[in-house]
Amino acid sequence: MNYYFITGTSKGIGKALAEAALEDQNTIVTGISRNVSITHERYHHLHLDLSDITALRNNIHKVYPELREPDKIVLINNAGVVGEVSYIGSQSTDNVEFVFDVNVVAPAMFMDTFLSAYHHHNCPKIIINMSSGAGKRPVDGWAAYCASKAALDMLSLTCQKEQDLQKTNVKVFALSPGVVDTAMQTHIREAEADQFSEIEKFQKLKEENALEQPDKVAAKIMTLVNEADSFNEVVFRIDLIK
Ligand SMILES: NC(=O)c1ccc[n+]([C@@H]2O[C@H](COP(=O)([O-])OP(=O)(O)OC[C@H]3O[C@@H](n4cnc5c(N)ncnc54)[C@H](OP(=O)(O)O)[C@@H]3O)[C@@H](O)[C@H]2O)c1
Repeated sequence: MNYYFITGTSKGIGKALAEAALEDQNTIVTGISRNVSITHERYHHLHLDLSDITALRNNIHKVYPELREPDKIVLINNAGVVGEVSYIGSQSTDNVEFVFDVNVVAPAMFMDTFLSAYHHHNCPKIIINMSSGAGKRPVDGWAAYCASKAALDMLSLTCQKEQDLQKTNVKVFALSPGVVDTAMQTHIREAEADQFSEIEKFQKLKEENALEQPDKVAAKIMTLVNEADSFNEVVFRIDLIK
């Protein structure tokens, strides 16, 4: 059996990913988010709010069960938030903490417990952290988001280095999915123009149907999972997956 643990499966890329993984009869998916929208005999859901770190700490032991002779184990830290689109100086005081909890602290906890729960299994283990181009360049209005994705990239690079030093069968990726037609993009397009200078560019991408669809992105991520050994970069963009 292949076992997938995917955060943020209620909509967007995560939902498309869970559905793509479930197409393989030999797959069991555990999804984690506040809402659930998938019903399937091989899908299990855990209702967790990843911005509530205390609750996550108290419940994370429920995420990873004992597995019998797994063929492959995959963790996809997909859940993410942009937070308030506004300049530093006009944000609510808890915005940075909120964005970092969901985008960095929770993924780090999922990676840590995943590796410790399944270190005794020698099958391929794959961790995919959903990153963003925003982690590589400053986007005004998105400071917390940019910083959180940069942190996720470094978390991924460091984790892969540690696994390589230990000669484990673990691959870690920080993948930027491109601009995808999800609720996150709707949120971005609703920002105030004086708090986000690139708003017209993002509105135009939608008007011109230039956004990628979540199912296309999910299909490429499945290729990454199935051919993980042929990808040597940790941090990379989805257009490198053919
Ligand atoms: N869409 C893009 O253009 C784009 C570009 C670059 C990177 N990304 C990255 O790709 C990933 C997926 O984005 P998306 O566009 O698919 O986003 P989305 O449509 O907004 O979906 C986000 C998912 O994350 C979950 N989530 C959000 N806050 C949560 C919380 N506090 N606790 C638990 N789950 C939470 C949501 O579930 P609930 O609301 O049910 O909890 C939902 O399932 C994110 O990491 C994002 O940063 C997206």
